[in-house]
Amino acid sequence: MQNGSPETCWFHLCMAADLAGPNAFVTTRVGTVPLVAQNIKGRVVAFRNVCTHRFAVIHGEPSGCGPLRCPYHGWSFDADGVPVGLPFNPTDFQLEAEGRRRLALHPASLARCGRLVFIRVAADGPSLEEELGADLFARLAALSDVFPRRGDTVEPAEDWETIEAANLRIHLAPDGVLVLHSAAPDGADSRFSRTTAFYSATADAEQPA
Ligand code: FES
Repeated sequence: MQNGSPETCWFHLCMAADLAGPNAFVTTRVGTVPLVAQNIKGRVVAFRNVCTHRFAVIHGEPSGCGPLRCPYHGWSFDADGVPVGLPFNPTDFQLEAEGRRRLALHPASLARCGRLVFIRVAADGPSLEEELGADLFARLAALSDVFPRRGDTVEPAEDWETIEAANLRIHLAPDGVLVLHSAAPDGADSRFSRTTAFYSATADAEQPA
């Protein structure tokens, strides 16, 4: 696992709920490659977070809500990565359909494991399940489904079980708290690391919601 170049490895990005809303996006960086996962009209897709016009970074924030639109000349992209909104196209760019298709964003890979979302620079390669192994994949999927309630983060203690997968470290408390820590991939700023705590669906009502 994670033996190849960073561009061929899966990295944990976020939870599925983080990408569920219209125009929700989450970004990261793998080495020198900025990546974005984005909800576009209900489809969640992943691309290199780099505009194909003059190579500006499209989304600068680690996460947020907004259309996949380049801040430089305002090109916006559809769920296939094709630029569909080009301000001043008739005078400045004169791009017809074929020219726009040639300027589609470079796709990245996206995978779900239960409610966990993973991303990879390479568009092709082994599936996430192949990389993690069937047993670990099934365990992560089950854990992510059993702990659906996001709440306040707590510090893992010595008697907690720890599971490692890709850049994800999972701490599981005996009394039913799950803490996910996703380290920023190599080359990424620490703002792309994420720590989240989850509580089981049957936890006491006083647990944080
Ligand atoms: S650099 Fe993105 S629209 Fe020009």
